[in-house]
Amino acid sequence: MSIEDENHVAKFADPFHLLGTGIISLPIDFPGTPFNKAIKASKFIRKELLKIIRVRKVDLAEGKATPTQDILSHMLLTCNEDGQYMNELDIADKILGLLIGGHDTASVTCTFIVKYLGELPHIYDRVYQEQMEIAKTKSEGELLNWDDINKMKYSWNVACELYWSANSTHKNEEYFPEAEKFDPTRFEGNGPIPYTFVPFGGGPRMCPGKEYARLEILVFMHNLVKRFKWKKLIPDEKIIINPLPTPSKNLPIQLFPHNA
Ligand code: HEM
Repeated sequence: MSIEDENHVAKFADPFHLLGTGIISLPIDFPGTPFNKAIKASKFIRKELLKIIRVRKVDLAEGKATPTQDILSHMLLTCNEDGQYMNELDIADKILGLLIGGHDTASVTCTFIVKYLGELPHIYDRVYQEQMEIAKTKSEGELLNWDDINKMKYSWNVACELYWSANSTHKNEEYFPEAEKFDPTRFEGNGPIPYTFVPFGGGPRMCPGKEYARLEILVFMHNLVKRFKWKKLIPDEKIIINPLPTPSKNLPIQLFPHNA
């Protein structure tokens, strides 16, 4: 939605947390229950999204926003095959869906990348090597592009190998030998056979954010390993499920800059 003002983003943080916790909870709508708090939070978020949508309509009409600048402009200006445009509430709902689908998923993955690379120096070293090959081709301040992302093959295999909380999947020894071992090389070559590895689901309702998530996660890894090594401060920190896996003490680490 092209919102870069930190205070504006922060306004969504608390209601979003309530929504994330309540969305997979017992559906009991009674004052004080997580479900009830989530409904209230979603009402607040929808109201705020409607304000943003209305401002954007005016900005588009006055030429202050462009039709291609982001998904909000796209949703306002694209009609279906019958020539109908989405109404404001539909757009708010779609954006809410994208925010829910896209926020905790990618950020939890980034958290676990920090955890595992902090625990497994031999994996860290290969990620570092791969990312430095790319960093070396860049001039000062030059941004990563799509070709760079596609060169980050080992780093993506590391992201694929991370924690998966549904215990029944990705553990079948027939398809994932030594399933408990952290081994990103299992994704090399053709990788696991189709429909055995399904972190983004499969079929027509497969996650539409997959490539965006890959981009976000790999850019995060690039910028992190390029600058730092790190050490976990709580070696055996527990993982709690809330509803996504989360380190119980927020994964404190100590950073070591490469050139210090
Ligand atoms: C590591 C990151 C992510 C993981 C592991 C993930 C995983 C999933 C899974 C398993 C599904 C259900 C697929 C199915 O029913 O077969 C899904 C659906 C969805 N995801 Fe993601 N996702 C991620 C990132 C994102 C991002 C970044 C966005 C948006 C920007 C997003 C938006 C959605 C939406 C809108 C759906 C519902 C699709 C539908 O029902 O048609 N996801 N995701």
